[in-house]
Amino acid sequence: MTIIVTGGAGFIGSNFIFHMLDSHPDYRIICLDKLTYAGNLSTLESVMDKENFRFVKADICDRDAVYKLFEEEHPDMVVNFAAESHVDRSIEDPEVFLRTNIIGTAVLMDACRKYGITRYHQVSTDEVYGDLPLDRPDLFFTEQTPIHTSSPYSSSKASADLLVLAYHRTYGLPVTISRCSNNYGPYHFPEKLIPLMIANALNDKPLPVYGEGKNVRDWLYVEDHCKAIDLIIHNGKVGEVYNVGGHNEKQNIDIVRIICKELGKSEDLITFVTDRKGHDMRYAIDPTKIHNELGWLPETKFADGIKRTIKWYLDNKEWWENIISGEYQDYYEKMYKDR
Ligand code: NAD
Ligand code: TYD
Repeated sequence: MTIIVTGGAGFIGSNFIFHMLDSHPDYRIICLDKLTYAGNLSTLESVMDKENFRFVKADICDRDAVYKLFEEEHPDMVVNFAAESHVDRSIEDPEVFLRTNIIGTAVLMDACRKYGITRYHQVSTDEVYGDLPLDRPDLFFTEQTPIHTSSPYSSSKASADLLVLAYHRTYGLPVTISRCSNNYGPYHFPEKLIPLMIANALNDKPLPVYGEGKNVRDWLYVEDHCKAIDLIIHNGKVGEVYNVGGHNEKQNIDIVRIICKELGKSEDLITFVTDRKGHDMRYAIDPTKIHNELGWLPETKFADGIKRTIKWYLDNKEWWENIISGEYQDYYEKMYKDR
Protein backbone atom coordinates (compact mmCIF):
# COMPACT_ATOMS: atom_id res chain seq x y z
CA MET A 1 0.00 0.00 0.00
CA THR A 2 1.38 3.40 -1.04
CA ILE A 3 -0.24 6.54 0.35
CA ILE A 4 0.43 10.14 -0.64
CA VAL A 5 -0.13 12.41 2.35
CA THR A 6 -0.33 16.06 1.30
CA GLY A 7 0.40 18.79 3.86
CA GLY A 8 2.36 16.30 5.95
CA ALA A 9 4.84 18.91 7.17
CA GLY A 10 2.02 20.71 9.00
CA PHE A 11 0.34 20.02 12.33
CA ILE A 12 -2.17 17.23 11.73
CA GLY A 13 -0.51 15.81 8.60
CA SER A 14 2.78 15.19 10.42
CA ASN A 15 0.99 13.51 13.33
CA PHE A 16 -0.87 11.36 10.77
CA ILE A 17 2.41 10.33 9.11
CA PHE A 18 3.85 9.29 12.49
CA HIS A 19 0.67 7.35 13.26
CA MET A 20 0.64 5.55 9.89
CA LEU A 21 4.34 4.63 9.96
CA ASP A 22 3.84 3.21 13.47
CA SER A 23 0.55 1.39 12.83
CA HIS A 24 1.27 0.17 9.28
CA PRO A 25 5.05 -0.39 9.05
CA ASP A 26 4.57 -2.23 5.73
CA TYR A 27 3.02 0.84 4.02
CA ARG A 28 4.96 3.32 1.89
CA ILE A 29 4.15 6.93 2.88
CA ILE A 30 4.96 9.85 0.60
CA CYS A 31 4.61 13.35 1.98
CA LEU A 32 3.89 16.05 -0.61
CA ASP A 33 4.17 19.52 0.90
CA LYS A 34 4.89 23.01 -0.42
CA LEU A 35 6.51 24.05 2.89
CA THR A 36 4.58 27.29 3.27
CA TYR A 37 5.07 29.33 6.46
CA ALA A 38 3.04 26.57 8.21
CA GLY A 39 5.10 23.63 6.93
CA ASN A 40 8.23 22.67 8.80
CA LEU A 41 10.62 20.03 7.55
CA SER A 42 12.27 19.69 10.97
CA THR A 43 8.97 18.22 12.20
CA LEU A 44 9.59 15.18 9.96
CA GLU A 45 13.24 14.77 10.95
CA SER A 46 12.65 11.52 12.89
CA VAL A 47 11.16 9.72 9.85
CA MET A 48 13.18 11.28 7.02
CA ASP A 49 15.65 8.36 6.81
CA LYS A 50 13.05 5.60 6.89
CA GLU A 51 13.12 3.45 3.76
CA ASN A 52 9.33 3.46 3.41
CA PHE A 53 9.06 7.28 3.66
CA ARG A 54 9.70 9.92 1.03
CA PHE A 55 9.36 13.71 1.20
CA VAL A 56 8.58 15.70 -1.95
CA LYS A 57 8.46 19.49 -1.92
CA ALA A 58 5.70 20.56 -4.31
CA ASP A 59 2.56 22.65 -4.57
CA ILE A 60 -0.70 20.68 -4.87
CA CYS A 61 -1.80 23.28 -7.45
CA ASP A 62 1.19 22.41 -9.66
CA ARG A 63 -0.40 19.90 -12.05
CA ASP A 64 2.87 18.84 -13.70
CA ALA A 65 4.57 18.16 -10.34
CA VAL A 66 1.55 16.25 -9.01
CA TYR A 67 1.19 14.11 -12.16
CA LYS A 68 4.93 13.39 -12.15
CA LEU A 69 4.70 12.13 -8.57
CA PHE A 70 1.75 9.87 -9.46
CA GLU A 71 3.70 8.47 -12.41
CA GLU A 72 6.67 7.72 -10.16
CA GLU A 73 4.81 6.29 -7.18
CA HIS A 74 1.48 4.84 -8.43
CA PRO A 75 -0.21 5.60 -5.09
CA ASP A 76 -3.14 3.49 -3.88
CA MET A 77 -4.53 6.33 -1.77
CA VAL A 78 -4.28 10.09 -1.31
CA VAL A 79 -5.05 11.78 2.01
CA ASN A 80 -5.27 15.54 1.51
CA PHE A 81 -4.30 17.66 4.52
CA ALA A 82 -2.66 20.42 2.46
CA ALA A 83 -4.46 23.69 3.06
CA GLU A 84 -4.23 27.22 4.19
CA SER A 85 -5.76 26.67 7.61
CA HIS A 86 -5.89 29.86 9.66
CA VAL A 87 -9.19 31.81 9.78
CA ASP A 88 -7.52 35.13 10.73
CA ARG A 89 -5.19 34.96 7.73
CA SER A 90 -8.14 34.16 5.45
CA ILE A 91 -9.86 37.35 6.63
CA GLU A 92 -6.73 39.36 5.76
CA ASP A 93 -6.07 37.72 2.39
CA PRO A 94 -8.58 35.18 1.01
CA GLU A 95 -7.03 34.49 -2.41
CA VAL A 96 -4.39 31.94 -1.46
CA PHE A 97 -7.10 30.02 0.44
CA LEU A 98 -9.14 29.71 -2.75
CA ARG A 99 -6.10 28.62 -4.72
CA THR A 100 -4.73 25.95 -2.39
CA ASN A 101 -7.92 24.73 -0.77
CA ILE A 102 -10.10 24.57 -3.91
CA ILE A 103 -7.88 24.45 -7.02
CA GLY A 104 -5.31 22.26 -5.22
CA THR A 105 -8.03 19.76 -4.29
CA ALA A 106 -9.22 19.64 -7.92
CA VAL A 107 -5.68 19.03 -9.23
CA LEU A 108 -5.14 16.16 -6.77
CA MET A 109 -8.46 14.56 -7.74
CA ASP A 110 -7.70 14.97 -11.47
CA ALA A 111 -4.47 13.06 -10.87
CA CYS A 112 -6.45 10.38 -9.03
CA ARG A 113 -8.83 10.07 -11.99
CA LYS A 114 -6.01 9.95 -14.53
CA TYR A 115 -3.83 7.37 -12.78
CA GLY A 116 -6.46 5.49 -10.75
CA ILE A 117 -6.56 5.09 -6.95
CA THR A 118 -8.60 3.07 -4.47
CA ARG A 119 -9.34 6.05 -2.21
CA TYR A 120 -9.11 9.85 -2.18
CA HIS A 121 -9.68 11.20 1.33
CA GLN A 122 -10.41 14.87 1.95
CA VAL A 123 -9.55 16.19 5.41
CA SER A 124 -12.25 18.80 6.00
CA THR A 125 -13.49 20.71 9.01
CA ASP A 126 -16.60 21.20 11.15
CA GLU A 127 -16.37 24.89 10.21
CA VAL A 128 -18.20 24.12 6.94
CA TYR A 129 -21.41 23.89 9.04
CA GLY A 130 -21.10 27.49 10.27
CA ASP A 131 -21.82 28.00 13.96
CA LEU A 132 -24.36 27.15 16.65
CA PRO A 133 -25.88 29.54 19.21
CA LEU A 134 -24.51 29.51 22.77
CA ASP A 135 -28.01 29.22 24.26
CA ARG A 136 -28.84 25.94 22.47
CA PRO A 137 -26.49 23.35 24.01
CA ASP A 138 -28.85 20.65 22.69
CA LEU A 139 -27.80 21.35 19.06
CA PHE A 140 -24.88 19.55 17.35
CA PHE A 141 -23.50 19.31 13.81
CA THR A 142 -24.51 16.06 12.12
CA GLU A 143 -23.53 15.02 8.58
CA GLN A 144 -26.99 16.28 7.51
CA THR A 145 -26.48 19.81 8.87
CA PRO A 146 -26.54 22.21 5.89
CA ILE A 147 -23.29 23.82 4.76
CA HIS A 148 -23.40 27.42 5.98
CA THR A 149 -19.98 29.03 6.13
CA SER A 150 -18.75 32.20 7.82
CA SER A 151 -15.12 32.89 6.88
CA PRO A 152 -13.17 32.78 3.62
CA TYR A 153 -11.34 29.79 5.15
CA SER A 154 -14.48 27.78 5.87
CA SER A 155 -15.98 28.78 2.51
CA SER A 156 -12.92 27.48 0.69
CA LYS A 157 -13.05 24.20 2.64
CA ALA A 158 -16.79 23.83 1.94
CA SER A 159 -16.19 24.51 -1.77
CA ALA A 160 -13.58 21.75 -1.80
CA ASP A 161 -16.02 19.35 -0.09
CA LEU A 162 -18.67 20.03 -2.73
CA LEU A 163 -16.11 19.42 -5.47
CA VAL A 164 -15.04 16.13 -3.84
CA LEU A 165 -18.66 14.92 -3.74
CA ALA A 166 -19.15 16.09 -7.35
CA TYR A 167 -16.10 14.07 -8.51
CA HIS A 168 -17.63 11.04 -6.81
CA ARG A 169 -21.03 11.49 -8.43
CA THR A 170 -19.76 12.58 -11.87
CA TYR A 171 -16.64 10.46 -12.34
CA GLY A 172 -17.19 7.73 -9.75
CA LEU A 173 -14.02 8.73 -7.88
CA PRO A 174 -13.84 6.66 -4.66
CA VAL A 175 -13.83 9.49 -2.11
CA THR A 176 -14.43 9.95 1.59
CA ILE A 177 -14.54 13.18 3.64
CA SER A 178 -13.93 13.73 7.36
CA ARG A 179 -15.12 16.89 9.11
CA CYS A 180 -13.29 17.24 12.39
CA SER A 181 -13.52 19.71 15.25
CA ASN A 182 -10.56 21.76 16.59
CA ASN A 183 -7.42 19.66 17.16
CA TYR A 184 -4.67 20.23 19.71
CA GLY A 185 -1.37 18.49 20.44
CA PRO A 186 2.32 18.44 19.40
CA TYR A 187 3.56 20.41 16.36
CA HIS A 188 0.55 22.78 16.39
CA PHE A 189 1.64 26.03 14.75
CA PRO A 190 1.88 28.80 17.38
CA GLU A 191 -0.58 31.13 15.63
CA LYS A 192 -3.55 29.00 16.77
CA LEU A 193 -5.22 29.47 20.16
CA ILE A 194 -3.66 26.73 22.33
CA PRO A 195 -0.01 26.86 21.19
CA LEU A 196 -0.09 30.67 20.98
CA MET A 197 -1.29 30.94 24.58
CA ILE A 198 1.30 28.40 25.79
CA ALA A 199 4.14 30.21 23.99
CA ASN A 200 3.04 33.67 25.16
CA ALA A 201 2.49 32.54 28.75
CA LEU A 202 5.97 30.97 28.84
CA ASN A 203 7.39 34.28 27.59
CA ASP A 204 5.21 36.29 30.07
CA LYS A 205 3.59 38.03 27.10
CA PRO A 206 -0.08 39.18 27.04
CA LEU A 207 -2.64 36.46 26.22
CA PRO A 208 -4.91 38.02 23.55
CA VAL A 209 -8.47 36.70 23.96
CA TYR A 210 -10.84 37.81 21.17
CA GLY A 211 -14.08 39.54 22.27
CA GLU A 212 -15.29 38.25 25.63
CA GLY A 213 -13.71 34.79 25.22
CA LYS A 214 -17.12 33.09 25.33
CA ASN A 215 -16.81 31.34 21.96
CA VAL A 216 -16.92 27.57 22.24
CA ARG A 217 -14.74 25.06 20.38
CA ASP A 218 -14.97 21.25 20.60
CA TRP A 219 -11.35 20.15 21.24
CA LEU A 220 -9.95 16.79 20.10
CA TYR A 221 -6.45 15.43 20.74
CA VAL A 222 -4.72 15.17 17.35
CA GLU A 223 -3.92 11.45 17.69
CA ASP A 224 -7.63 10.67 17.99
CA HIS A 225 -8.24 12.52 14.71
CA CYS A 226 -5.43 10.55 13.01
CA LYS A 227 -6.93 7.26 14.21
CA ALA A 228 -10.34 8.31 12.87
CA ILE A 229 -8.87 9.02 9.41
CA ASP A 230 -7.03 5.68 9.46
CA LEU A 231 -10.38 3.94 10.11
CA ILE A 232 -12.22 5.93 7.44
CA ILE A 233 -9.71 5.26 4.64
CA HIS A 234 -9.75 1.53 5.38
CA ASN A 235 -13.34 0.85 6.44
CA GLY A 236 -15.36 3.97 5.58
CA LYS A 237 -17.99 3.86 2.84
CA VAL A 238 -17.08 5.50 -0.44
CA GLY A 239 -19.01 8.73 -1.11
CA GLU A 240 -19.66 9.32 2.60
CA VAL A 241 -18.93 12.16 5.01
CA TYR A 242 -17.88 11.38 8.61
CA ASN A 243 -17.99 13.94 11.42
CA VAL A 244 -15.18 13.57 13.98
CA GLY A 245 -15.33 15.15 17.45
CA GLY A 246 -15.21 14.16 21.06
CA HIS A 247 -17.96 16.08 22.93
CA ASN A 248 -15.34 18.25 24.57
CA GLU A 249 -16.69 21.78 24.35
CA LYS A 250 -14.86 24.59 26.11
CA GLN A 251 -15.08 28.38 26.04
CA ASN A 252 -11.86 30.07 24.89
CA ILE A 253 -11.45 31.90 28.19
CA ASP A 254 -11.55 28.60 30.08
CA ILE A 255 -8.86 27.12 27.83
CA VAL A 256 -6.63 30.14 28.51
CA ARG A 257 -7.26 29.88 32.28
CA ILE A 258 -6.36 26.16 32.23
CA ILE A 259 -3.08 26.97 30.44
CA CYS A 260 -2.25 29.71 32.99
CA LYS A 261 -2.94 27.29 35.83
CA GLU A 262 -0.88 24.44 34.36
CA LEU A 263 2.07 26.78 33.76
CA GLY A 264 1.76 28.56 37.11
CA LYS A 265 1.24 31.92 35.36
CA SER A 266 -0.98 34.78 36.51
CA GLU A 267 -4.35 35.30 34.81
CA ASP A 268 -3.38 38.99 34.77
CA LEU A 269 -1.64 38.15 31.47
CA ILE A 270 -5.09 37.71 29.87
CA THR A 271 -5.92 40.69 27.62
CA PHE A 272 -9.27 41.03 25.89
CA VAL A 273 -8.76 42.32 22.35
CA THR A 274 -11.02 43.32 19.43
CA ASP A 275 -13.13 40.40 18.27
CA ARG A 276 -12.49 38.47 15.04
CA LYS A 277 -14.74 39.60 12.15
CA GLY A 278 -17.68 37.19 11.69
CA HIS A 279 -16.45 35.17 14.69
CA ASP A 280 -18.22 31.79 14.89
CA MET A 281 -19.85 31.35 18.31
CA ARG A 282 -19.93 27.63 18.91
CA TYR A 283 -18.83 24.43 17.15
CA ALA A 284 -20.07 21.05 18.43
CA ILE A 285 -19.87 17.71 16.63
CA ASP A 286 -22.24 14.78 16.87
CA PRO A 287 -19.91 11.79 16.22
CA THR A 288 -22.67 9.12 16.28
CA LYS A 289 -22.12 8.00 12.68
CA ILE A 290 -18.38 7.28 12.95
CA HIS A 291 -18.96 5.61 16.31
CA ASN A 292 -21.77 3.35 15.08
CA GLU A 293 -20.32 2.51 11.65
CA LEU A 294 -16.59 2.35 12.37
CA GLY A 295 -16.39 1.94 16.17
CA TRP A 296 -14.37 5.14 16.63
CA LEU A 297 -14.28 6.81 20.03
CA PRO A 298 -11.85 9.47 21.29
CA GLU A 299 -9.29 7.96 23.65
CA THR A 300 -7.58 11.02 25.16
CA LYS A 301 -9.44 13.03 27.81
CA PHE A 302 -8.88 16.79 27.61
CA ALA A 303 -7.37 16.92 31.11
CA ASP A 304 -4.64 14.49 30.01
CA GLY A 305 -4.26 15.78 26.45
CA ILE A 306 -3.67 19.38 27.51
CA LYS A 307 -1.04 18.28 30.07
CA ARG A 308 0.74 16.20 27.40
CA THR A 309 0.55 19.11 24.95
CA ILE A 310 1.97 21.63 27.45
CA LYS A 311 4.75 19.21 28.34
CA TRP A 312 5.57 18.80 24.64
CA TYR A 313 5.89 22.59 24.22
CA LEU A 314 8.11 22.75 27.30
CA ASP A 315 10.31 19.90 26.02
CA ASN A 316 10.47 21.22 22.43
CA LYS A 317 11.08 24.92 22.89
CA GLU A 318 13.53 25.01 20.01
CA TRP A 319 10.83 23.88 17.56
CA TRP A 320 8.45 26.76 18.28
CA GLU A 321 11.05 29.38 19.19
CA ASN A 322 12.57 28.97 15.73
CA ILE A 323 9.15 29.59 14.21
CA ILE A 324 8.37 32.60 16.38
CA SER A 325 11.72 34.19 15.61
CA GLY A 326 11.11 33.98 11.84
CA GLU A 327 8.50 35.27 9.42
CA TYR A 328 5.73 34.63 11.92
CA GLN A 329 7.00 37.55 13.99
CA ASP A 330 5.98 40.01 11.24
CA TYR A 331 2.52 38.43 11.10
CA TYR A 332 2.18 38.68 14.88
CA GLU A 333 3.07 42.38 14.91
CA LYS A 334 0.58 43.08 12.12
CA MET A 335 -2.31 41.14 13.69
CA TYR A 336 -2.03 42.18 17.32
CA LYS A 337 -0.29 45.63 17.32
CA ASP A 338 -3.43 47.83 17.36
CA ARG A 339 -5.96 45.25 18.45
P1 NAD B 1 -1.33 23.45 8.98
O1 NAD B 1 -1.55 24.87 8.54
O2 NAD B 1 -0.58 23.18 10.25
O3 NAD B 1 -0.55 22.65 7.83
C1 NAD B 1 -0.86 22.79 6.47
C2 NAD B 1 0.26 22.12 5.65
O4 NAD B 1 -0.11 22.22 4.27
C3 NAD B 1 1.61 22.81 5.79
O5 NAD B 1 2.63 21.84 5.94
C4 NAD B 1 1.79 23.56 4.48
O6 NAD B 1 3.14 23.71 4.07
C5 NAD B 1 1.01 22.66 3.51
N1 NAD B 1 0.52 23.40 2.34
C6 NAD B 1 -0.16 24.58 2.32
N2 NAD B 1 -0.41 24.95 1.04
C7 NAD B 1 0.08 23.95 0.24
C8 NAD B 1 0.10 23.73 -1.15
N3 NAD B 1 -0.43 24.63 -2.01
N4 NAD B 1 0.67 22.61 -1.62
C9 NAD B 1 1.23 21.70 -0.79
N5 NAD B 1 1.26 21.86 0.55
C10 NAD B 1 0.69 22.97 1.06
O7 NAD B 1 -2.77 22.80 8.99
P2 NAD B 1 -3.39 21.70 9.99
O8 NAD B 1 -3.91 22.38 11.19
O9 NAD B 1 -2.46 20.58 10.12
O10 NAD B 1 -4.66 21.24 9.14
C11 NAD B 1 -4.54 20.20 8.18
C12 NAD B 1 -5.90 19.98 7.52
O11 NAD B 1 -6.87 19.67 8.50
C13 NAD B 1 -6.42 21.22 6.79
O12 NAD B 1 -7.01 20.80 5.59
C14 NAD B 1 -7.46 21.79 7.74
O13 NAD B 1 -8.46 22.46 7.02
C15 NAD B 1 -7.98 20.54 8.41
N6 NAD B 1 -8.49 20.70 9.78
C16 NAD B 1 -7.73 21.31 10.74
C17 NAD B 1 -8.22 21.40 12.05
C18 NAD B 1 -7.40 22.02 13.16
O14 NAD B 1 -7.88 22.13 14.29
N7 NAD B 1 -6.15 22.38 12.93
C19 NAD B 1 -9.48 20.88 12.36
C20 NAD B 1 -10.22 20.26 11.35
C21 NAD B 1 -9.72 20.17 10.07
P1 TYD C 1 -8.12 29.15 16.25
O1 TYD C 1 -7.10 28.35 16.99
O2 TYD C 1 -7.66 30.19 15.27
O3 TYD C 1 -9.08 28.09 15.54
P2 TYD C 1 -10.53 28.32 14.79
O4 TYD C 1 -10.78 29.77 14.63
O5 TYD C 1 -10.32 27.63 13.48
O6 TYD C 1 -11.53 27.65 15.67
O7 TYD C 1 -9.05 29.87 17.31
C1 TYD C 1 -9.78 29.14 18.28
C2 TYD C 1 -10.64 30.12 19.05
O8 TYD C 1 -9.79 30.98 19.80
C3 TYD C 1 -11.46 31.03 18.15
O9 TYD C 1 -12.72 31.26 18.78
C4 TYD C 1 -10.67 32.33 18.11
C5 TYD C 1 -10.00 32.36 19.47
N1 TYD C 1 -8.67 33.03 19.52
C6 TYD C 1 -8.42 34.01 20.48
O10 TYD C 1 -9.29 34.36 21.30
N2 TYD C 1 -7.18 34.61 20.52
C7 TYD C 1 -6.19 34.27 19.63
O11 TYD C 1 -5.09 34.87 19.69
C8 TYD C 1 -6.46 33.24 18.67
C9 TYD C 1 -5.41 32.83 17.67
C10 TYD C 1 -7.71 32.65 18.65
